[in-house]
Amino acid sequence: MTERNYDGLTRAQAYELSQDVGVNPSTEPTIGDVINQRFGRREMLKGALGAAAITAVAAPLALAAGEAEAAGAPRAGFRFAEPEHGVDQTHHVAPGYTVDVVLRWGDPLFADAPEFDPTRQSAAAQRRQFGYNCDYVGYAPLPEWGSRNADRGLLCINHEYTSEEVMFAGVGRQGERAGFGKMTKDLVDIEMAAHGCSVVEIQRGRDGKYTYVRNSRYNRRLTTGDTVMAISGPAAGHPRMRTTADPTGTRVIGTVNNCAGGMTPWGTYLTAEENFHGYSSNRVPEGHPEFRNQRRYGVGERWYNWADYYDRWDATKEPMESNRFGWIVEIDPYDPTSMPVKRTALGRKKNEGAESIVNRDGRVVVYMGDDERFEYVYKFVSRNRINRTDRRANRSLLDDGTLFVAKYNDDGTGVWMPLVFGTGPLTAANGFNSQADVMIEARRAADLLGATPMDRPEDVEPNATTGRVYVALTNNDRRRPDQLNGPNSRPANEWGQVLEMINTNDDHAATTFRWEILIRCGNPTIAAVGAMYNPATSANGWMACPDNMAIDGQGRLWVGTDQGGSWSRASGRADGVYAVETHGTGRGTSKLFFRTPIGAEICGMHFLPGDRAMTIAVQHPGVDGTGDFRPFARESTFEDPATRWPDFQPNMPPRPSVVMVRKTDGGVIGS
Ligand code: FEO
Ligand code: CA
Ligand code: CA
Repeated sequence: MTERNYDGLTRAQAYELSQDVGVNPSTEPTIGDVINQRFGRREMLKGALGAAAITAVAAPLALAAGEAEAAGAPRAGFRFAEPEHGVDQTHHVAPGYTVDVVLRWGDPLFADAPEFDPTRQSAAAQRRQFGYNCDYVGYAPLPEWGSRNADRGLLCINHEYTSEEVMFAGVGRQGERAGFGKMTKDLVDIEMAAHGCSVVEIQRGRDGKYTYVRNSRYNRRLTTGDTVMAISGPAAGHPRMRTTADPTGTRVIGTVNNCAGGMTPWGTYLTAEENFHGYSSNRVPEGHPEFRNQRRYGVGERWYNWADYYDRWDATKEPMESNRFGWIVEIDPYDPTSMPVKRTALGRKKNEGAESIVNRDGRVVVYMGDDERFEYVYKFVSRNRINRTDRRANRSLLDDGTLFVAKYNDDGTGVWMPLVFGTGPLTAANGFNSQADVMIEARRAADLLGATPMDRPEDVEPNATTGRVYVALTNNDRRRPDQLNGPNSRPANEWGQVLEMINTNDDHAATTFRWEILIRCGNPTIAAVGAMYNPATSANGWMACPDNMAIDGQGRLWVGTDQGGSWSRASGRADGVYAVETHGTGRGTSKLFFRTPIGAEICGMHFLPGDRAMTIAVQHPGVDGTGDFRPFARESTFEDPATRWPDFQPNMPPRPSVVMVRKTDGGVIGS
């Protein structure tokens, strides 16, 4: 997410503010040197290559490059020609590829759903239409999980947030600073209906083009205002999870700020609640038992004025309500009547995503980043083993297990530390009286364990082909020189980096690992940026602000970017999808594959079985940083947007959309 904005600030300023609302008091272990000694060798390499057009550094040490591959290597190389980098009002893809728009904000999902009319919106209509700001996209093949059918299946899609200035006529940007004078209860109800998730059937036609099935019996909308969800795991029923509306602490209406997610190995869809704090108004006063908790997560930021109409969004009136958000939610896309479940064993944080893998002992491991400056990387290891023959038998697998947080040592090793009540500092002496407390305040528990504060951990992707794990660290312009640590080695880091982790013995349940930087992002022709790519990377191929990632069926890594309102500073080019080599002599080479229209970020990259089709969610087109887009040079509104992508019809605002990319000749993408 690149955030809502506060009137009176530039987009970039608002973006910075929005990523710095929680308070982490333990921005801990720092090393004083400006450049981590670990990178000294590579800095020298960089000097040796200084004459190259790309002043990048060769081959990241490669934990790997010279080593025997324990778990196999991905197919080497990406075969496609790069499109030109740049920024304009539409998308671009590599030559020889076709982009079809499959689902747009407002598309009717049911027989009785009204056609989208941006001048006649209502909450009732929005509940039956595709939601706003699509983020994660997963795929569940039909007729059943495991069929590997790419011709027909279910897209599982998050709708992270809403942008009222381009959604609603005559409203303009609202916010805590500008006030919410143009907001009404009707508009708030539309916003809540536009948040949440969609499950939508798609099918491939004879011409290779995918379309959605409007009347599929599987289609479903889940919204913030309406969908009842269960709460399970250690925090279920705890007094800190109880509210006036739910004295049991086991039922909650809605999910919010659903960012990325993941498909489980048994075919359910995990949706990650990220910036839940921005939906509450007010904060309990100092001295209140929830004050420390609310402050740590930044609850009460009031990005939305929902509390003006609904008491549960006022953190002083319902102090426990915000404890019921910030979780990983599990949804069965094959059963539209199933109740989603918030799995509290995975910890409460600003969850970017939840990608999982079956460990070789059959336990399931879920990797998660907590996306805020100086926050942490986590993994959950299930206690029990997956049942491969009966997917329903895995119903409670994510309720029982251990949550770990990562500590990165400067020497390239690291430790996964368990968040278990009663161990180490996680005791009553520090205000933890149960495992429920540890999960509700996972951040504070991780602080006490000495976890490593990172440069905004976004997607964390395990690679089933190689066993390695990739972490997108998107940026952190607040990191000072005295706050550097091994994997976060640049102060005022506006560009981010992609980290590679290898669990000891390739065991995803291991408590130790090694780590390496795969690429350090930013402009490699500016020495002060300190970027690092394989020198084979072209002038089109470098990136800034890695966010979402995907691994294709051949084990190859794809990275999407989200520069937000700072795109002009970070790279001066639109966000994109990049193919990044992880193995062999090409390791660290990045190639541009697709780029967004102005103001959008890349989300929802997901490969369908066979790698002949790839989804991309184009989120918030026409919104971020349009003041820096020279041909436009102002903020977008509903009436006057920087782009009307993807329809380009007068009077139709830009519409966040899921697109399907395929090779025009029907071949395997990138091959
Ligand atoms: Fe919703 Fe961290 O991006
Ligand atoms: Ca992001
Ligand atoms: Ca994201």
